[in-house]
Amino acid sequence: MLCRAPNFFVAVVCSLLPFSPSWAEQNDTELLALIAGMSTEQKVAQMIQAEIKYITPEQVVEFGIGSILNGGGSFPQSNKYATVQDWVELADAFHAASLDRSQGSAGIPIIWGTDAVHGHNNVIGATIFPHNIGLGAANNPQLVADIAAATAREVAATGIDWIFAPTVAIAKDDRWGRTYEAYSDRSDIVGRYAGQVVRAMQQQNIAATAKHFIGDGGTFRGIDQGDTRLSLEQLLLEHGIGYSEAIAADVLTVMASFNSWNGEKLHGSYDLITTILKEGLGFDGFVVSDWNGIGQIPGCSNESCAQAINAGIDMIMVPEDWQPFLTKTLAQIERGEIAMSRIDDAVYRILSVKKQLGLLDGAAPSSRHSAVGSGVIGSAKHRAIARQAVRESLVLLKNSRGLVPLSPDQNILVAGLADDIGVASGGWTISWQGTGNTNADFPGGTSIYTGLAQQVAAAGGSINYSANGDYQNKPDVAIVVFGEQPYAEGQGDIDNLQFDAAAKQGLQTVRKLKAEGIPVVAVFLTGRPLWVNAEINAADAFVAAWLPGTEGEGVADVLLRDAKDQVQYNFRGRLSFDWPNSDVNSENRDLPVDDILFPYGYGLSAGEASDKRLDNLNEEPTVAAAASEVVVFQRGTKAPWRPYVGDASNWRKLYSGGVVATQYGEMTVSSVDIMVQEDGRKLSWQGNGKRESQFYWQADQGMDLTALAEDNAALVVSYQLLREPSSAVTLRMDCSYPCSGALDITAELQMSQEWQNLALPLSCFAQRGVDLSKVNTPMLLSTAGQLELLVRNVAITAQLDGLTVQACQ
Ligand code: BGC
Ligand code: BGC
Repeated sequence: MLCRAPNFFVAVVCSLLPFSPSWAEQNDTELLALIAGMSTEQKVAQMIQAEIKYITPEQVVEFGIGSILNGGGSFPQSNKYATVQDWVELADAFHAASLDRSQGSAGIPIIWGTDAVHGHNNVIGATIFPHNIGLGAANNPQLVADIAAATAREVAATGIDWIFAPTVAIAKDDRWGRTYEAYSDRSDIVGRYAGQVVRAMQQQNIAATAKHFIGDGGTFRGIDQGDTRLSLEQLLLEHGIGYSEAIAADVLTVMASFNSWNGEKLHGSYDLITTILKEGLGFDGFVVSDWNGIGQIPGCSNESCAQAINAGIDMIMVPEDWQPFLTKTLAQIERGEIAMSRIDDAVYRILSVKKQLGLLDGAAPSSRHSAVGSGVIGSAKHRAIARQAVRESLVLLKNSRGLVPLSPDQNILVAGLADDIGVASGGWTISWQGTGNTNADFPGGTSIYTGLAQQVAAAGGSINYSANGDYQNKPDVAIVVFGEQPYAEGQGDIDNLQFDAAAKQGLQTVRKLKAEGIPVVAVFLTGRPLWVNAEINAADAFVAAWLPGTEGEGVADVLLRDAKDQVQYNFRGRLSFDWPNSDVNSENRDLPVDDILFPYGYGLSAGEASDKRLDNLNEEPTVAAAASEVVVFQRGTKAPWRPYVGDASNWRKLYSGGVVATQYGEMTVSSVDIMVQEDGRKLSWQGNGKRESQFYWQADQGMDLTALAEDNAALVVSYQLLREPSSAVTLRMDCSYPCSGALDITAELQMSQEWQNLALPLSCFAQRGVDLSKVNTPMLLSTAGQLELLVRNVAITAQLDGLTVQACQ
């Protein structure tokens, strides 16, 4: 079927198909001898990758597993502030453990993989480069090669061998929460970059990963881990280019994708992983599964999945459940459900990669790379590359009367998120979601504001920053920075492309300054093109800055002229995505928006004036603005809410991932996986009845819920009780404490194996004193005793069909 109507790409695959196997013969005698000497147990152990939170070096000695990873937001000793030395020491410890045969392992050096997707982004002090969407706009293959080499050197400096990048996704629907990880919405730039990145990383002796095979960016409605519905020809043609280019550059690993293809999970697809990728495209490295990706195959669990191995997965990322996985896989081999030849093939591929990286020589990570300890992490050289990337990635979308670049020799006001490096860096930055960071978490980094301030000061101008746009002396011009709060993966999925439909803070600031007669340059920090017609209309100039990272001076390089009023650097960024003129596809909301405001390739040059029609764009959304629902938590905490714990010693401690406890330690919150990663929270109270501890979601500003209350909306919490309360439990809603209303829900909490819904009408909270026009804390749980529950979804909604709504007490 594949070769019925071949186009160029498919023809290439087809021409290879009749010959099996087309990958290089597995005839390395050293590897074959190694494998011949291994027991089945040692072989399966080689195929396992565990996460550093869930395995110790001692266990590596005992079980001899082949690989470890650190997931997003996971650090040595779970310490966010782990030093480079801590990383290297842990790498050495795991490495030494893998060589130790005293408990029966094969003694093969372990390989450590990490998500260095925009720099070595799990490490404090690393250079954080713009996310891929910005690099796509820069359209500069040499630049991405420089970035890949710099990233690989920083990774090597921590003793790590393997990077889970490049993402070669082609993002077709901007509602996808991983759009920013893609260089483009079509093949050209992805094809041009994939080989460059792979080569540059691997020249540093660091393995690269082309991910996520295949069709991750083509899912229905842009739903993360969803279903890509295409013929095989279209799938390869629209989403395949990165793999063929990466393989041509000898990429050592490919990661399987969470998505399905026409309803079938990729992780279990023999046709795609073995027939197409390995036999068809001739990929002879190894395929790694994604985080518990095997568990999503019907009939499999995180602990067991013969189908994935049979489909062609060679290394299995089982972060937590690797021990039962090992036992169960051995039993499957014993029962003949997995052939020994498949195991031998997988182990050959893994050992071959280790050999190509030089790992089999057995040198410790600390002595393997010249980069270790040489101060390359966050080096001036790497930061200069990042700064270049920032200035080349910015796309000037609107420029009335050629306003930009600005003279630095004037009085400039900077407002909004200009001084927040965390927001400028987005997801996959220190933490998985990129939340919970402050500027202090970026030593050596420069915020957009600081970058502007340095150049303005040097040119003799004056500059002030105020978050809300207030000022004392009327400025000559204002730069307002606004954009998306950080997110990663499915937590960033959205239903339509409206930007900040609820608060519109950036727009308000722009309009206020304009009303005062001040020209405004809008700088938009975003992981994707969004429908921002109102913001574009309101501002005089509008710059798409994507997620630039730690080197904010790159923004000043193009926004400002030099001290002699000359252009410093022209705007080089051109859209690598279409930019929408509508919030949804008005014909069919399942499809991507096809009403395009700025086409692929668009971007103005410095001083070039834009079209007048950019003052009068349609601002009317297709999707009704009046939300029938305010989501607080679904797969993750939704903006503008943030999770906190508190007790009398500290009422407000941010939950930013991992396990966080209250100050007295009587309440903890942690992330748990229910259907997908971190889509639940476990809340545990261990108090002795004497003092309250609480968990809550809160926003910086109050939200008006009166329209929802008129629709009889309720706060709906889906939960599972794990431990009965030992003292009274209250659920509170605040309108900026002490404005507040509490309900006693002790009697409502029921133990059961099933998920339960607690639906509490907004009117009950109003009766208890809540001013529904300014709710800043939609849900706060508090008790002094013991209690444990899982929480999955929390929303304020008028859609209450099938729910038992509580009567007010
Ligand atoms: C883990 C992260 C990991 C992420 C992958 C989370 O549950 O905590 O470490 O990178 O899943 O999606
Ligand atoms: C992501 C991968 C990542 C892995 C390890 C997964 O959830 O999909 O891109 O490499 O986690 O953190």
